[in-house]
Amino acid sequence: MNFLSLIEAKRAGATLTPEQIQAGIRAFTAGTIPDYQMAAFLMAVFFRGLNTAETTALTLAMRDSGDLLKFPKDKRPLVDKHSTGGVGDKVSLPLAPLLACLGFRVPMISGRGLGITGGTLDKLDSIPGYKTLLPAKRITEIVQEVGCVICGQTERMVPADKKLYALRDVTGTVPSIQLITASILSKKLAESLDALILDVKFGCAAFMQTKADAQKLAKAMVALGNQCGVNTRAILTDMNTPVGRAAGNWLEVRESVDCLDGKGPEDLRMLVIDCAAHLQVQTRKARTLVVARKQAEACLDSGAPRHKWDEMLQAQGADLTAFRRKLAKDVTARVVVELKAKRSGYVTRCDARILGEVIRDIGGGRLTKEATINYDVGVDQLVKPGEPIKADAALCRIHAGDVQQAGSARTRLAAAFQISPRRARSLPSVSGMIG
Ligand code: URA
Repeated sequence: MNFLSLIEAKRAGATLTPEQIQAGIRAFTAGTIPDYQMAAFLMAVFFRGLNTAETTALTLAMRDSGDLLKFPKDKRPLVDKHSTGGVGDKVSLPLAPLLACLGFRVPMISGRGLGITGGTLDKLDSIPGYKTLLPAKRITEIVQEVGCVICGQTERMVPADKKLYALRDVTGTVPSIQLITASILSKKLAESLDALILDVKFGCAAFMQTKADAQKLAKAMVALGNQCGVNTRAILTDMNTPVGRAAGNWLEVRESVDCLDGKGPEDLRMLVIDCAAHLQVQTRKARTLVVARKQAEACLDSGAPRHKWDEMLQAQGADLTAFRRKLAKDVTARVVVELKAKRSGYVTRCDARILGEVIRDIGGGRLTKEATINYDVGVDQLVKPGEPIKADAALCRIHAGDVQQAGSARTRLAAAFQISPRRARSLPSVSGMIG
């Protein structure tokens, strides 16, 4: 195909036909369009944008670049949740078993950390024996038998996104609303879902820094998801402050288990309940959000999702004895230090971006694609905005790989916190809904 003419047309601001977009994605996936041409095309899209029909065509072409997950007919609806990414965002972990206990099937295909945002698969890799890479047949079996699975996409699922994302990452073309929409929805549509809840984050540690931009992204994704036959809703949530009191792969798994045990932080519990409640309303399992929230809370408090979590872990190869032994330890990192408050007052800022950067830099995330992760590093026992603190009390604990790392993390993390004499109004974590 003559891909150069498509690059030139988009550069000039022309509208492409669905057939042109499909042919381009097919050829790129097959390897007949070189990366430099696709990079030029992506940059043209970044500046010129895509209209709704073009974004739909791109999404469907990407979805159809590989295999779709197929499930037998069943009265349990197929649902999933996707977050645009944040710091301390471990909602998927307790949510999947909760949804399974509420009578859903959950083929939760997740990703790895990106930039400073943590990845669900990296968190799960901290569980002894847990397998995040499963063949499609096994994914289907676990969903049918257990009700939920959390794993990565197979080699044959949405290969176009894998190739395109790698190029976008190194060509400055990630933050395009249409490209993000196509990337996220192509993967979710490949799961053959009935309903999808999107958690679109805004704030200093999110892709979308302002609520207005998050709203635009949410609207685009909700419209396209619904148009493609998946009942789609989005909630807009704050990502200026981390979710919960822990950030870092293993520390977040531990906090997720706390949530399943009814002990987790309130903001995490609320987000988990909210996502479950929306999906119940979307699939008509509940008539109103108020009723749905009550049902989800009762289910979480029954302890059934905690058992379901163990069942899912076992189905995905985890060594439950080793997992429980690890959970019983207060600390798994080599060195743990406290960051102490310099004065008494109220915490008015706990900057998720600084936290995310520090955790990534001490080995909790990746600075290069090849970097290995230290699953045990991170922060926990965070004091959050709106909460009182006494001089010399701990604002958080820092879990690090060695003494030097712990020291530099402590110095940098001091800038993440602000303490003021007066309590500031803390933002609600969910601040809007689209769909
Ligand atoms: N997550 C994705 O999967 N794709 C994007 O483009 C951005 C976030």
